[in-house]
Amino acid sequence: MRNKIGLLLIGLYLMYQLLPEQPGFIDGLQQIRGYKNWSGFALFLLVLAQWSVSVYRGVFNASGPNLEKAYQLHYWIGSLAPLVFFIHSPKPDYGMLLLLAILFFSNSLLGIVLQHPSVVRRGVIKQVGIGIHVLASTVILALILLHIWTVFSFN
Ligand code: HEM
Ligand code: HEM
Repeated sequence: MRNKIGLLLIGLYLMYQLLPEQPGFIDGLQQIRGYKNWSGFALFLLVLAQWSVSVYRGVFNASGPNLEKAYQLHYWIGSLAPLVFFIHSPKPDYGMLLLLAILFFSNSLLGIVLQHPSVVRRGVIKQVGIGIHVLASTVILALILLHIWTVFSFN
């Protein structure tokens, strides 16, 4: 169920990119500065929440059912993330922010593949996959910080 929702949202986002023109009201919302800033802030909080599972495991030594619960939350938030991404940025067009969007969606897709039961048993493949997922998440976080810095220094 969760995987299907995640894949559906990613698919819808990609299909939306094929529209030649955005519907007027979405375009209108995107022109509002406060809207862009607050939706960006919400998306930023979501990405930080995705990192909390690392802190929970690494700093607080969580394990067992508690860690499992934290991962379940991670999968759910990650699966719904395309929706929040859409609210902030329905149609990234070029440059670094387009790269950020591509990385973000590829990484979510990788996450969905990694927590699928058929991958769980394949030890090495899963470990490499998680390594890439964490590395990509680090690059994504760096690009986001750069993006926020750019927004507030040049606009
Ligand atoms: C406090 C956090 C954030 C603020 C204030 C913010 C603000 C903005 C603003 C003002 C723009 C319009 C472009 C510009 O004028 O430079 C923009 C574009 C964009 N943002 Fe953010 N943002 C934030 C967080 C994020 C996060 C976390 C992501 C991705 C995970 C993201 C992805 C994008 C993308 C892909 C665009 C480009 C396409 C477009 O203009 O819609 N932003 N953001
Ligand atoms: C939205 C952006 C996402 C970010 C920034 C992100 C970030 C991370 C980070 C930092 C870890 C390492 C956690 C740790 O230290 O144990 C991780 C692990 C993981 N994430 Fe994500 N993630 C995202 C989305 C997703 C999605 C959508 C899924 C799947 C539905 C997913 C599935 C996983 C899996 C399977 C692991 C490995 C869990 C394990 O060690 O068993 N992630 N993610």
